[in-house]
Amino acid sequence: MTSPTSAVPTPDCDLCPRLVEFRHDNQAKYPDFFNAPVPSFGPLEAQVLVCGLAPGLKGANCTGRPFTGDYAGDLLYPTLKTFHFATGEYGARADDGFELVNCRITNAVRCVPPQNKTTGPEEKACRPFLIDEMKAMPNLKAILALGGVAHNAVIQTLGLKKSQWKFGHNARHELGDELPILFDSYHCSRYNTNTGRLTEEMFHDVFRSLCEEL
Ligand code: URA
Repeated sequence: MTSPTSAVPTPDCDLCPRLVEFRHDNQAKYPDFFNAPVPSFGPLEAQVLVCGLAPGLKGANCTGRPFTGDYAGDLLYPTLKTFHFATGEYGARADDGFELVNCRITNAVRCVPPQNKTTGPEEKACRPFLIDEMKAMPNLKAILALGGVAHNAVIQTLGLKKSQWKFGHNARHELGDELPILFDSYHCSRYNTNTGRLTEEMFHDVFRSLCEEL
């Protein structure tokens, strides 16, 4: 049996002019960084897809692995390990040997945006890659959206209406027959954890809900 595959943006993807310009600036400024659309991480056979926002400049955009080297990864990866979705030691490097189990991680937008902020057209341009990601996961049962942008990207990618499916922390959305269950969490960003909007306990509660689904 052949393994499933998903379509990925090419390293020089030119769908978003602002992100291409930022990539070129970063290639000049940080020549040792990955500086390209960051591919998803984890097995396509997984039941769970975690969807983040976009790579951080000096994190995933540097290492080439989602959330790796980003502050947000310092909460996400240990949490995945606690809930048995990962093995090995997370070392904030793409070659740390850390592996995901029954879980895959992607981003709503694959390229690093200036000031960590994506635009509507960029989110739309990247949607085909999210569609392919979902289609390439034959056992997909649940999606965990980290933050409102990821939530809306999943909803719109599935052809559903944003107005009917509102983001809510620790919400569980039954989107319809044959569709994965969508869980939401506040993004595990530095801002959200520093301000107390998201605590480790709150994040773990979301993972407890997710695990009950599997
Ligand atoms: N934040 C995200 O949402 N995704 C990453 O890959 C890194 C940080």
